Amino acid sequence: MAPKFIHLLLLLAVLSFVFYDSSQAIRDDQFRFFNLMKASLSGKALSAWDVSGMKSYCDFRGVSCNNRGYVESINISDWSLSGNFPADVCSHLPELRVLDISRNNLRGNFLNSIVNCSLLEEFSMSSVYLRTTLPDFSKMTSLRVVDLSYNLFTGDFPMSITNLTDLEVIYFNENDGLNLWQLPGNISRLTKLRVMVFTSCMLYGSIPASIGNMTSLVDLELSGNFLSGQIPKELGLLKNLQQLELYYNQHLSGSIPEELGNLTELVDLDMSVNRLSGSIPESLCRLPKLQVLQLYNNSLTGEIPGAIAESTTLTMLSLYENFLSGQVPQNLGKSSAMVLLDLSENNLSGPLPAEVCRGGRLLYLLVLDNKFSGKLPDSYANCKSLIRFRVSKNYLEGAIPEDLLGLPHAAIIDLADNSFTGPFPSSIGNAKNLSELFMQNNKLSGFLPPEISGAINLMKIDLSNNLLSGPIPTEIGDLKKLNLLMLQGNKLSSSIPSSLSLLKSISVVDLSNNHLTGNIPESLGELSYNTINFSNNELYGPIPLSLIKDGLVESFSGNPGLCAPVEVQSFPKCSHKHNQKKRNSMWAIMISVIVFTIGAILFLRRRYSKQRGVVEHDETLSSSFFSYDVKSFHRICFDRHEILEAMIDKNIVGHGGSGTVYRIRLRGGEVVAVKKLWSRTAKDSTPEDQLIFDKGLKTEVETLGSIRHKNIVKLYSYITNFDCKMLVYEYMPNGNLWDALHKGWIHLDWPIRHQIALGVAQGLAYLHHDLLTPIIHRDIKSTNILLDANYEPKVADFGIAKVLQARGGKDSIITVIAGTYGYLAPEYAYSSKATTKSDVYSFGVVLMELITGKKPVEAVFGENKNIVYWVSTKLDTKEGVMEVLDKRVSGSFKDEMIQVLRIAMRCTYRNPSQRPPMNEVVQLLIEADPCRFDSCKLSINKTKEASNVTKVESQPEV
Ligand SMILES: *[C@@H]1O[C@H](CO)[C@@H](O)[C@H](O)[C@H]1NC(C)=O
Ligand SMILES: *[C@@H]1O[C@H](CO)[C@@H](O)[C@H](O)[C@H]1NC(C)=O
Ligand SMILES: *[C@@H]1O[C@H](CO)[C@@H](O)[C@H](O)[C@H]1NC(C)=O
Ligand SMILES: *[C@@H]1O[C@H](CO)[C@@H](O)[C@H](O)[C@H]1NC(C)=O
Repeated sequence: MAPKFIHLLLLLAVLSFVFYDSSQAIRDDQFRFFNLMKASLSGKALSAWDVSGMKSYCDFRGVSCNNRGYVESINISDWSLSGNFPADVCSHLPELRVLDISRNNLRGNFLNSIVNCSLLEEFSMSSVYLRTTLPDFSKMTSLRVVDLSYNLFTGDFPMSITNLTDLEVIYFNENDGLNLWQLPGNISRLTKLRVMVFTSCMLYGSIPASIGNMTSLVDLELSGNFLSGQIPKELGLLKNLQQLELYYNQHLSGSIPEELGNLTELVDLDMSVNRLSGSIPESLCRLPKLQVLQLYNNSLTGEIPGAIAESTTLTMLSLYENFLSGQVPQNLGKSSAMVLLDLSENNLSGPLPAEVCRGGRLLYLLVLDNKFSGKLPDSYANCKSLIRFRVSKNYLEGAIPEDLLGLPHAAIIDLADNSFTGPFPSSIGNAKNLSELFMQNNKLSGFLPPEISGAINLMKIDLSNNLLSGPIPTEIGDLKKLNLLMLQGNKLSSSIPSSLSLLKSISVVDLSNNHLTGNIPESLGELSYNTINFSNNELYGPIPLSLIKDGLVESFSGNPGLCAPVEVQSFPKCSHKHNQKKRNSMWAIMISVIVFTIGAILFLRRRYSKQRGVVEHDETLSSSFFSYDVKSFHRICFDRHEILEAMIDKNIVGHGGSGTVYRIRLRGGEVVAVKKLWSRTAKDSTPEDQLIFDKGLKTEVETLGSIRHKNIVKLYSYITNFDCKMLVYEYMPNGNLWDALHKGWIHLDWPIRHQIALGVAQGLAYLHHDLLTPIIHRDIKSTNILLDANYEPKVADFGIAKVLQARGGKDSIITVIAGTYGYLAPEYAYSSKATTKSDVYSFGVVLMELITGKKPVEAVFGENKNIVYWVSTKLDTKEGVMEVLDKRVSGSFKDEMIQVLRIAMRCTYRNPSQRPPMNEVVQLLIEADPCRFDSCKLSINKTKEASNVTKVESQPEV
């Protein structure tokens, strides 16, 4: 008995030793992998992993194990790690099922080993921006979910993926570095696939009919590719499909198959920007769950089926840029709460649908450029939710409903080019969010109501060519953000109010063809306009000296009483007895005394009434300093007192759209620019204003504070207390590119301009391609490009930048109006989808400024035309091309400039998907370097010296 027992014990011992030994070995091996990860990756998040062996890796954050102690899942998504991800993950972790390494800055060859993980079920490496070719995936036979979106893959698409028949979800979107590839017919082997997202990944050719066999599909997205041919009717077999996205392929043609009306689960259908023809199938309009139907920019004809108005689910209908005709179903919006209706640029006629905002959720109502007639429905004045209202270029008539202009959220109201009559509604004073008002080319009469000054966010006003009479209200000077004021072609009869000189952001003023009288206020000369036009009025007296420059005749002709204070052609020299001027200045003094007195009284009253509220803050200056919150981003030594003490008028170098800019030399010798933001405690600022303002500021601080690039302006610090906010930037001694180019403050020769273009492109490429979450700047323009002492450009003003949401597909609607007239990509006219490609467009406009020396919008381009249009009209002939180049610099660089002109043309293509990505633009610009052959070093030095001599105090608009 005893020996047998001992035998058994021995056996047990051996067994347990073997067992212990192998499990220990496995544990060690798994541990080794975490050691490898810690060794090769850097990032704060990993510091919590204690690899000393004291703790089990199963308890590490982001790690989970199965009940046998094997690692089953690793999720380090968005941990801001960088470095090489270790190879051979699955030989160390043999039971790994889930691996999510998305949104990290990983490099290395790891993908080649991950494809050996035959047990891996979920794998995500989205937004790693890895530049590599793709291996064979055939061995990953357990894979159910794979996300390879947002990378920089090159070479061929891995067709081996069609072997992975257990796949349920694949994201391969935003991979536009691949070779063109076609969807293979045998993709239909993936019968379990529910989600197939292949947007913007270089697909071309036709959509295989076999996709109709993939009946598990819920989400099919093939947008932003180069697909062509007809849409196969077999798609109608996808009975579970909820989302079908085929937009921006440009080449899909033929008619929309009626069979799509069998997709009874469909919620979202978008086939915009293609060449689809024929009519909209009625069957589509009857789909019981359809919420979004977008077919814009195709060649569709016929009427909009009446059935659409019976949908109880529809919220977005976008059919612009087609050839649709007939009337719009009058009940549209009665059965469902519409959010967006865009029918612009068709041949639609008859009355506008009166019920469309009945649901109370309508944000966009856009029907411009059709043949609509009749009156504006009164119900539109109750569309309180509207953000954009555009009905221009129709045959509408009658009066404007009184409350329409006061829509509280509207950012754009566009009634231009119709036959509206009657007075200008004074409800405009309630339009607190209105930034653009277009009512030109109508028959509006009566006075321009002074209440317009209540619309404090107005940036553009065009009321030209109406029958408006009476004075230009002085209150217009309160519209601090105004940059375009077009009142020409009316019957306005006052003098020009000197309050116009308060419009510090103004760039275009056209008051021509009115009956304006009196002198031109001297103070107007202080503003910096692009264009000013006072011609054909009854003005008299001297033209202010500072307004005498190019374009003098066009700006002031047709005013027989005007004279010039200096010798010029076309205007008589003012004689000494222009004592109207004296009288006027007497008046000005009296008025300013009165204004000052009233102002002082108001100020004191406000102070008095606010005293109770203020008292707790109203302590001694030094103690209020204690409440300053200082946030610093870059290492630079200064003390906030130093900054605050130096913020005196003497140091002001400019007034930007959002604040005053000071140039301050610190005790350490360093010079910084400080932007003091307008304080928003004015009585007319609403909580919403505050919110938008704070949001812009937050965006700027967070965006700029977190990035570093030689072509992005450095934000040193952010200082705030209860009523004052200040941003401290590096100082840019050469001001902004706009001033350099268009005010002629600095002569920039072509090599310098090329250097500026390349630098800006590199800055943008960094924002778009090198960050974990790309940033869209959204307001690229020459005033936002600052120049340092060596003319190295820095992109500034991130107030409206947008950090892209990680997952692709469609951007959510952004309700803040972004961008600047002249630089805006055309797609903004209709939707406010911001993409990196809209930055590319704006950059293209800046390139054109550099090449031509012209402004983005000039009168010579024609009405409503910008530089992109103008350049495109010149390219047919060689002489035309030469005419485009800025003669001041072209000299021996014509070929290089033409090369950059080609890049600019591509950047400004109407279709965003045809514009090159910014990293490609950088490459193209490098190839167009005028100094490749060292021929221009000399000229660069020359420019720099010349500009040192003529150094001017410039205004950095940071
Ligand atoms: C990983 O974690 C992130 C963030 O917590 C989560 O959104 C993601 O779905 C996880 N990935 C997987 C594959 O579960
Ligand atoms: C699919 O797998 C088979 C067998 O492993 C292989 O021969 C074939 O090349 C694979 N197909 C593709 C497209 O890679
Ligand atoms: C769909 O599958 C059926 C059955 O497997 C097959 O006969 C048919 O050819 C397939 N259709 C297409 C268009 O590939
Ligand atoms: C799909 O739609 C077409 C045309 O609308 C119709 O003829 C066909 O019967 C429908 N198929 C199914 C399976 O419902």
